[in-house]
Formats: sequence, structure tokens, C-alpha cells
Amino acid sequence: MDESQLDAAESAYVAGRSLTTAEAEGDERVVEAALRPRTLAEVIGQERVREQLALLLEAARRRERVPDHVLLSGPPGLGKTTLAMIIAAEMSSPLRLTSGPAITHAGDLAAILSGLNEGDVLFVDEIHRMSRPAEEMLYMAMEDFRVDVIIGKGPGATAIPLEIPPFTLVGATTRAGLLPGPLRDRFGFTAHLEFYEPADLEQIVRRSSDLLEVELGSDGAGEISRRSRGTPRIANRLLRRVRDYAQVRADGVVTRDIARRALDLFEVDESGLDRLDRGVLDVLCRRFGGGPVGVSTLAVAVGEERETVEEVAEPFLVRLGLLARTPRGRVATRAAWEHLGLAAPAAYGPDTLLFEPDHD
Ligand SMILES: Nc1ncnc2c1ncn2[C@@H]1O[C@H](COP(=O)(O)OP(=O)(O)OP(=O)(O)O)[C@@H](O)[C@H]1O
Ligand SMILES: [Mg+2]
Repeated sequence: MDESQLDAAESAYVAGRSLTTAEAEGDERVVEAALRPRTLAEVIGQERVREQLALLLEAARRRERVPDHVLLSGPPGLGKTTLAMIIAAEMSSPLRLTSGPAITHAGDLAAILSGLNEGDVLFVDEIHRMSRPAEEMLYMAMEDFRVDVIIGKGPGATAIPLEIPPFTLVGATTRAGLLPGPLRDRFGFTAHLEFYEPADLEQIVRRSSDLLEVELGSDGAGEISRRSRGTPRIANRLLRRVRDYAQVRADGVVTRDIARRALDLFEVDESGLDRLDRGVLDVLCRRFGGGPVGVSTLAVAVGEERETVEEVAEPFLVRLGLLARTPRGRVATRAAWEHLGLAAPAAYGPDTLLFEPDHD
């Protein structure tokens, strides 16, 4: 893809929404492809997973066998698709790409499986969203490299066994808990991706800056990485917005000061909170005295859908220890008041919550 195609994808994307959602939006995937590491050695952070995968692949190479099936689990934007591509590249094998929602019938899967060649890497993204019958067919294929294709219906139906050449399944999921046990058990290795440390994110921002030919000044990368929610996808996105600001409002160099001004403009604060996150905390503290308040009420008060509040804002606020989910509703922690520069009511214990957090 050339420069102008990338730019077109980029502007289509900018027209989209929030800067801090971890999901890829619109044409962002096109922009991202240019920034993906291509080999294990190029991957930054995730040391443990990287070492585990390196071992698995090297052992397979030495035995001249296909590597065991791999499950990649973790929140959006941390590198699951990237690692799937790397597994294929490291094995010099073709990557076949599909996704759970695309496999609605067992027949869809049978068609994909029967088209595989020995050693192919089959990547099934969002594997938790596959249909039940397809899932059952997949168990068998993973274990015995064989499936039964059912021809016909009713009493006359016959099962025709179909051999499948040895392949490696790489499944990705943001919701490992939703995978049925039998499917999870058939993966020889599960990689759990964690949020990135700021130092790793900073290195990712440096690498992306090189690739995008963005000049970094002192601590520009640090400022961006600290506001990126531990997520490479967000770090790369913030970098692109800061680059715009540097080019239009300054001399193109991304310094700490420029990064700050740009991200303030886009309403991403020092901790990576965006407008919605702060809105939720603000309403919770100012209007509801810190809670507890039901999530639906909270959503109405900030003018958002309940799902958006629950799935986009809350997980990050909970992770930062600013909000707690309790059986009686959402509660702001003492840190939340401090984050907003407000004094917590006297009833708030030093670090204690008034209510036990629940773990739903
Ligand atoms: N370890 C890493 N080093 C450098 N860049 C990374 C790393 N991990 C991810 N990235 C960058 O983050 C972007 C998003 O990664 P990727 O698409 O692999 O995430 P994902 O986990 O598959 O997300 P989703 O759940 O939304 O599918 C990639 O374009 C890549 O540039
Ligand atoms: Mg992905």
C-alpha cells in the first residue's frame, strides 16, 4: 500500500469516534498493518509469551512437525492478530484467516479445513463466537486431523470421514471464559496477553515513529505511552494524532510539550482517561455523592448507552482503581475524587470502600 492509500484510510478513520477505545475502528486496520511487527524478535514487551512461543516453534521445527494449536487470549489491541501472523511467518507457512462469526455452519468450517495443506496455520479470530456444530467439528479436527462430513438429512444421512493434513490452529479471543472447556483443552498452549508496561509502550511508540518517519523530541514518546491505557493500538493511534498536531501547529517534532497539548486538545488526560471516563466519574461524584448508583442511571446521566459505559469506560476505571462495581451499584473510590480534584466526603474511609466490590 502506498502513502496516499494509507492517508485515505487514516482520514476515513479519524472521522470515526473516541481516541481511546481499544477496538480497531473503521479503516484503522489498514493503517495498523503497516505498524505490525513481523517476527518474534521485533515484538516489544510480552517477554514471557514471546519466550514460550519461541520455544514451541523451535521445538516443532526440530521435530519437523507442525506446532501444537495455540490460543491467544487477552483484551483488544494487545497483539493477538499480530502474533498469529508471526507464528505463520516464523514457520514459513501460509496463514489462512477466518473468524468465529464467519463460521455459521459446520459446512463452512468443513470447506475451510478441507482446503488446508500440510503445515498451514489456520487463524480463527473471535473463536468464542463460532456456532456450536462448527465447534464440535473443530474439536475432532484439532485432535485427530479428521472430520465427519454429514451428507443428506434424517435417517438417510451418512457421515463421510475426511482426512485433514496436519495444521496448526491459532485461535484468538478477548473472552477466554466464554470458550467451552473441551475446546480450550485442545489447545496445546494458551498465551495470555497482558496490558503493557509504560516502558514497553514507549519503545513501541519509538518504533512506530521510525516507521511513520515522525521525529521525536525529548520525552514525547513517554508522554504518549503514559496516556495509552497499556494498549499498543491506542499508543499508535495517539501517536498519529500527536503527529498531526506537531505538523500543523509546530515544527513537526513530537516533544513532551507538543504531546501534552495535542492530547489535551483531544481530551485524553494524564492517566489515559477520555471524556466519557471523566464524565462517568464526574456524574458519580458530583451528582450522586460517589454512589452507589445503578449503571443504567449512570448511562442516562452521561448521555450514553448502557453498553458503552459498561464495556468501554468501566473496565479501565476499575483497572485504575477509580471505580468499583458493587451489588448495589457503581461506587467512586477515594482516588476518583482525587483524580477530579474534589474532596471526598468525610464518610469515605482513607482507602476503604463503603461497600464490598463484587466480582461479576
Ligand atoms: N508487541 C507489540 N509491539 C509492537 N506493536 C504492537 C505489539 N502488539 C501490538 N502492536 C500494534 O498494535 C496493533 C494492534 O494489534 P493487534 O491487531 O494484533 O491486536 P489484537 O489483539 O488482535 O486486537 P483485537 O482484539 O481488536 O483483534 C498492531 O497494529 C500493532 O501495530
Ligand atoms: Mg485482532
